Amino acid sequence: MAKIGFDIGGTNIAAGLVSDEGVLLKKGSLPFPQDKDFEKVLSTCEQLVAALEEGETEPVKSVGVAVPGSIDATASIVLNAFNLGFSNTPLKEALEERLHKAVFLINDADAAVLAEHRVGSLRGCSNAFMITLGTGLGGGFIFNGTLFRGGRGNGTEPGHAILVNGGRHCTCGNDGCAEAYCAATRLVQDGKAYGWSSAKMVIDAAKAGDPFANAIVNAYVDDIGSYLASVINLLDPERIAIGGGVSAAGEFIMKPIRENVQKKTFFDQPTDIVVATAGNDAGIFGAAFIAE
Ligand code: BGC
Repeated sequence: MAKIGFDIGGTNIAAGLVSDEGVLLKKGSLPFPQDKDFEKVLSTCEQLVAALEEGETEPVKSVGVAVPGSIDATASIVLNAFNLGFSNTPLKEALEERLHKAVFLINDADAAVLAEHRVGSLRGCSNAFMITLGTGLGGGFIFNGTLFRGGRGNGTEPGHAILVNGGRHCTCGNDGCAEAYCAATRLVQDGKAYGWSSAKMVIDAAKAGDPFANAIVNAYVDDIGSYLASVINLLDPERIAIGGGVSAAGEFIMKPIRENVQKKTFFDQPTDIVVATAGNDAGIFGAAFIAE
């Protein structure tokens, strides 16, 4: 029976109907309520489900939900999703009541890594790592062929590993997190002084040879290089996939990242670092995959 996968982000809530064979049958998206009102979030999800079920012979029984934040060990409560304004939010129960369906929660980066492992660039890997370079820095691990959900079941938050002691302030409240240096948001912050208001604008300017944009991108690559080199030294993954908006820059960003990482890793044998291939719908797929 088909499942619904949600990918809840700070800008949009996307949802898709995914068949048992892993095919995305239908998809919809609505803006995430800008006042972050929880009731409105629930109603938006309800509307999306109604649209996906329209014309279907049977109602969908189970729903997976990818959220950009940490989830408790019982997979019921969103502990913190700073971009959504969720804190100790009982999302599973609230959605189950509203949708009358079984609801399964997963971190958005974990959903992406699951999709990447099932149908994308990490297929066949036993031990791998993925990062998503978007508004935040998401990350997830495949260990011994399955998604690693943390030793205590709280998931993992690799974007909040400290990269620079006392460094840039992070949305989580700490200073110096990798997210503050490696998320796409960092390019936006650094580009602002030159009139570039998105990561894509900075990257396009760098591609066109603008020296200031190139300096920003080089510093960014250097920080991602340090971060990934640390991950490699800790875990020696078979492969690392890079997803999220920034990865759309392809080899322009991937080649210098690989070179930078290689300079900094302990091991001589280069780690395979690839662009994620499950695409923009990876969150929807990963969420649908965990719905039972
Ligand atoms: C959150 C993660 C999330 C990532 C990407 C981070 O700020 O803490 O849970 O996976 O952003 O959305």
